[in-house]
Amino acid sequence: MKGMHPPLILGIETSCDETAAAVVAGGSRILSNVVASQVALHAAYGGVVPELASREHLRHIVPVVRQAIAQAGISFAQLDAVAVTEGPGLAGALLVGILYAKALAFGLGKPLLAVNHLEGHIHAVLLEARNRGDLPCEFPMLALVVSGGHTHLYLATEHRQTGAWTYRNVGRTVDDAAGEAFDKVAKLLGLGYPGGAWIDALARHGDPAAVPFHFNPIKPRTRLPNAKPGSDKPQPGSSPEEPIPVSRFDFSFSGIKTAVLRYTQAHHLEESIARRRAALSDLLAAHPSLPPEQALHLFDPQTLSLISSFQAAVVGNLIRQTLAAAEAFGARALLISGGVAANRELRQRLTAQASARGLPIAFPSLALATDNAAMIAAAAWPRYLQHLHAPESLTAAPQLKLG
Ligand code: KG4
Ligand code: ZN
Repeated sequence: MKGMHPPLILGIETSCDETAAAVVAGGSRILSNVVASQVALHAAYGGVVPELASREHLRHIVPVVRQAIAQAGISFAQLDAVAVTEGPGLAGALLVGILYAKALAFGLGKPLLAVNHLEGHIHAVLLEARNRGDLPCEFPMLALVVSGGHTHLYLATEHRQTGAWTYRNVGRTVDDAAGEAFDKVAKLLGLGYPGGAWIDALARHGDPAAVPFHFNPIKPRTRLPNAKPGSDKPQPGSSPEEPIPVSRFDFSFSGIKTAVLRYTQAHHLEESIARRRAALSDLLAAHPSLPPEQALHLFDPQTLSLISSFQAAVVGNLIRQTLAAAEAFGARALLISGGVAANRELRQRLTAQASARGLPIAFPSLALATDNAAMIAAAAWPRYLQHLHAPESLTAAPQLKLG
């Protein structure tokens, strides 16, 4: 440690639809955490439009970083390092943050640190749990990273001497991410965007046992070794088919989305959905940040119970897989992170079931559950201590893996 204060790291995050910057002292004290969300812009399209996202990041990156520095009450010269998300994420969006961070670090003569976005989500929970002092440092911990783009289970261990973290991916989604399923089902039922928060709010007004949804065992698949992730199509010049092993801790959420669609067709809900979509779009045009409860009059009991049953099934599946993996790998604590970690039913049921097993569990606060840059600065801390600086050739890694 040099000078009077613990080292200050500026974190920058632009992997998807939030332009974020934060200053974190000593890897754990948040001095500022600024997020410029593009949700309203993408809402009109029902999903993130990559080209628009890059353009918005370009517009916001300078003011957002300046605001983070000002709110921290420091000057650029006082920074000790600049940390930036390297991937995974949208290529053009990531590049805006990386190029800006590179130029800033170079101009200040300070080290540049590259951070995996998924590791950032895990460190968001660790940072807060450690500040509260309620998470014992026993390893391995099992981290569930569950967002619009990811549903992953990692065994995470901190090495006592170096402070370095290692991760082993023990479960992942074979198709849609859980947050993606929330968003797609919300779109299908004519709810607001992004869908997770709408389903969370409306689910408590329906009967979670009304519609029985089932998760079938995931079938082993084959994919060519150099096929694009998420694709089963052969790539030019590829060698023979190679089976992808399916772990019993993997997830699959595309089936339940189809089951919701089938339910709406079987019960002839199409017309009422179309009417609600039109009414809600008028309401949201007049009040863009309308709380879902204020649109409750647009919903019939059958639809509310469908929403409630969908959420209960997805949450139940996340809990079952997480607890099964925790038991199989002897995890000593659970860390839940990513946008879906904001879900109230997931927080309540998983907390109750973990404590019944004597397993410590930590969730992020709502501000640190969704994408932010404090988590990037926190995840960069072990790298800063070990002088693991990013090379000048650092570029976007849209498919970056963890573990
Ligand atoms: O971590 P995040 O901000 O961005 C990604 O990296 O994807 O997560 C966004 C996702 C969206 O799919 C959104 O619908 C979901 O998190 N989400 C929720 C809730 N709040 C956000 N899902 C369920 N319940 C919520 N309360
Ligand atoms: Zn994220």
